[in-house]
Amino acid sequence: MISIQVKTRTKFYSVLIEQEILRSAATYIRDAVPDAKHFVVVTSAPIRKHWGKMLLDSFSSDEAKVDVIEMPDGERYKTMATVESLSNQLVKLQADRKAVLIALGGGVVGDVTGFLASIYMRGIRFVQIPTTYLAQVDSSVGGKTGVNLKAGKNLVGAFKQPELVLVDPQVLDTLPEREYRSGLYESLKAGVIQNARIFEFMEQNRTEVLARHPASLEWLIAESVRVKADVVGQDEEEHGLRKILNFGHTIGHALEAETTYKTFLHGEAVAWGMVAAAMIAAGMHKTSLTIAERIISLVLAYAGLPQVSSRPKAIFRRLASDKKTLGGKVHFILPCDIGQVVIATDVPEKAVLHAMEELRSLSKR
Ligand SMILES: NC(=O)c1ccc[n+]([C@@H]2O[C@H](COP(=O)([O-])OP(=O)(O)OC[C@H]3O[C@@H](n4cnc5c(N)ncnc54)[C@H](O)[C@@H]3O)[C@@H](O)[C@H]2O)c1
Ligand SMILES: [Zn+2]
Repeated sequence: MISIQVKTRTKFYSVLIEQEILRSAATYIRDAVPDAKHFVVVTSAPIRKHWGKMLLDSFSSDEAKVDVIEMPDGERYKTMATVESLSNQLVKLQADRKAVLIALGGGVVGDVTGFLASIYMRGIRFVQIPTTYLAQVDSSVGGKTGVNLKAGKNLVGAFKQPELVLVDPQVLDTLPEREYRSGLYESLKAGVIQNARIFEFMEQNRTEVLARHPASLEWLIAESVRVKADVVGQDEEEHGLRKILNFGHTIGHALEAETTYKTFLHGEAVAWGMVAAAMIAAGMHKTSLTIAERIISLVLAYAGLPQVSSRPKAIFRRLASDKKTLGGKVHFILPCDIGQVVIATDVPEKAVLHAMEELRSLSKR
């Protein structure tokens, strides 16, 4: 088993990664929260159908009471209304301040459950069992939780670290192909921002990775989690370093918003965002053409990306209204080498527009 420690100012916890760890989930959860007498699994129907029983069976010889509550599936239910409805269900189940929530699902279930844990009875403990690739390498680690408002994504939330994260690559067997590929881009991102070995691994083992070969998956997930754990360990609340996790996300978020979240999965938009950032970096001489081309080729090698058809000007306007602008300036995470990035606030409008034009023609090929 691979065990990675996450050490933030507020909490130390482990991310345990192993094929079939879900079968023994209760044992590891018990170690992390020895005093718990009541667990409530939060999930959605499709995820429960695939993996709920295995999780519940692992508790068969545990004395604790284990309940399951469901939220509707999908990003559009990542809302305050869902949190309120789940809270009411917790009250009905007589969950008290010692109850422990278990998020079984992708980033949506994880973000909602973490936020619920941060406010139910002024805060209870929770455990993450991520079931999408994106959630396994990214959203389940680091303690960002929250929900969307009509006005925008993730506008309400809290920092709330879990007690434990259990990652079972086996659960990805049932994940749709497009969701899987989209998640892989977060690993590619981890490679570019901090760990060249991830990047090289993805270059050299494309077939195995796409075939979800267990050993390749385990390695890739673990190395990606290490990057995330390291970054959030140094900067839990995104005052500085944590911003590097936004590589590809500046333009990625703008593309998602401009297409009203209907065209791209998150990772797909980030993939185009990374291509744009590489083009901008090369244009501004922050990196060499060779490095930029290597990044672009790797993104495209994992592709099958939806076309970019938004107007460059429209994307630029979105950037200026992003909540992550720094003192009114759009910040970009730009690659300087594989494994190294810089934060730039001096990217001229012209460079962004040019990169967007390039994306449009590249994506038509
Ligand atoms: N907290 C963070 O730091 C952070 C980081 C990145 C993303 N996020 C958030 O994560 C969310 C996206 O998460 P996601 O990509 O996991 O999407 P998701 O949670 O909506 O899951 C995608 C789909 O896959 C299905 N699914 C999940 N696991 C499955 C499995 N094992 N087998 C079959 N189907 C399965 C789900 O039912 C869902 O329909 C966004 O809301 C985003 O804001 C949060
Ligand atoms: Zn992301």
